Amino acid sequence: MKFKKAIITGITGQDGSYLAEFLLKKKYIVHGIKRKSSSFNSSRIDHIYENKSYKNKFFLHYGDLLDSNSLTKIIRKVSPDEIYNFAAQSHVGVSFELPNYTSQVNSIGTLNLLQAINDCGLSQKTKFYQASTSELYGEIQEKRQSEKTPFYPKSPYATSKLFAYWITKNYRESYKIFASNGILFNHESPRRGETFVTRKITIGLSRIIHGLEKCLNLGNIYSLRDWGHARDYVEMCWKVLQFQKPDDFVIATEKQYSVKFFVDQCFKYLKIKIRWSGKGLNEYAKIIDFDKKKYPNLKINMVVIKISKKYFRPNEVNNLIGNANKAKKLLKWKPKINIHQLIKEMMDADLENSRKLILR
Ligand code: NAP
Ligand code: GDD
Repeated sequence: MKFKKAIITGITGQDGSYLAEFLLKKKYIVHGIKRKSSSFNSSRIDHIYENKSYKNKFFLHYGDLLDSNSLTKIIRKVSPDEIYNFAAQSHVGVSFELPNYTSQVNSIGTLNLLQAINDCGLSQKTKFYQASTSELYGEIQEKRQSEKTPFYPKSPYATSKLFAYWITKNYRESYKIFASNGILFNHESPRRGETFVTRKITIGLSRIIHGLEKCLNLGNIYSLRDWGHARDYVEMCWKVLQFQKPDDFVIATEKQYSVKFFVDQCFKYLKIKIRWSGKGLNEYAKIIDFDKKKYPNLKINMVVIKISKKYFRPNEVNNLIGNANKAKKLLKWKPKINIHQLIKEMMDADLENSRKLILR
């Protein structure tokens, strides 16, 4: 039996690790591209690499989206059926600090991959998935954003991903590559990068509970997002490439919550009562009731959330919510994990991580 071969860029990231697990279960041979780092950057995939049943099924290659030679070499050697381009400088806030680097990696990096497919003579064989994003909608032009909603990017990150979106379409039309964009809304998990807001909250609260930190500083808590679970979303990335033709799809839960709601639900899950007071940069949350036996490090009136100017962005995307009708109809998209299950999974994992930190 001939197994399908996939290359995943960004294998060490949140989505790369979940997709690798998903494809291996589907009997793919998976090749991940990881970049050289001076410290370990493979904690999300170590369990796959060490799993004996994936011996000769899971391979890692050093490469970088900015080094087109490395990409061509790997693609020529593997001759993949599918490439999933997850690699990116993916932090919107950081993209304001590193606009040039973000643009190089996210825009030119995507172009490098598409051109490598062509240069290796694989344009009629290799399918290409581009990790596009709801950030493209930025200053929203429609209440619910679908594939037809005009884009209005508001950060160097979003602008760089707009180039990647269009160059993917352009290579589809020019060279008939099966190249598709998945326009994914925010998706989270216990493997989410630690500086994205949901993970920052679940880590922050876990550390406060374990007495490792006293307070969590956040930026714009009134920002609204459509949050799903990364495990659900990577399955859709695969489905996008299994569709009968290359196309672009919005993947979203179609439910919207604020950052403040996410904080409230985390505390609710922990059975800790908080009260919000103040306004703007002076807004804060303090603890008003909790189980003293369960949480010996907490105190009544302890201020646990503060607002810090540092975490506001020069240009904010305030409000995103998807319209995923096309994916529901054509890809049978239905999210399995809701926000409360997501919060439970993330909180439980980070409470355990903090507990282990203390035991070390
Ligand atoms: P992530 O956790 O930040 O992972 C990004 C990956 O890209 C990491 O493996 C990183 O490697 C790698 N990378 C960065 N620069 C690279 C370069 N120059 N060459 C090769 N690899 C490089 O991101 P994610 O949350 O998994 O998201 C996956 C993709 O989907 C990203 O493109 C993101 O922009 C996009 N997206 C994400 C969401 C979301 O809500 N998560 C929504 C829409 C779109 P290191 O581990 O070495 O840093
Ligand atoms: N990171 C962060 N840290 N965000 C904060 C904070 C904070 O302390 N306080 C409030 N926020 C707000 C941000 O201003 C933003 O409005 C919202 O919380 C979500 O921020 P992030 O979790 O950093 O995600 P993002 O929406 O900017 O970007 C993510 O989702 C995009 C899809 O819409 C990233 O994964 C992107 O790569 C992805 O494309």
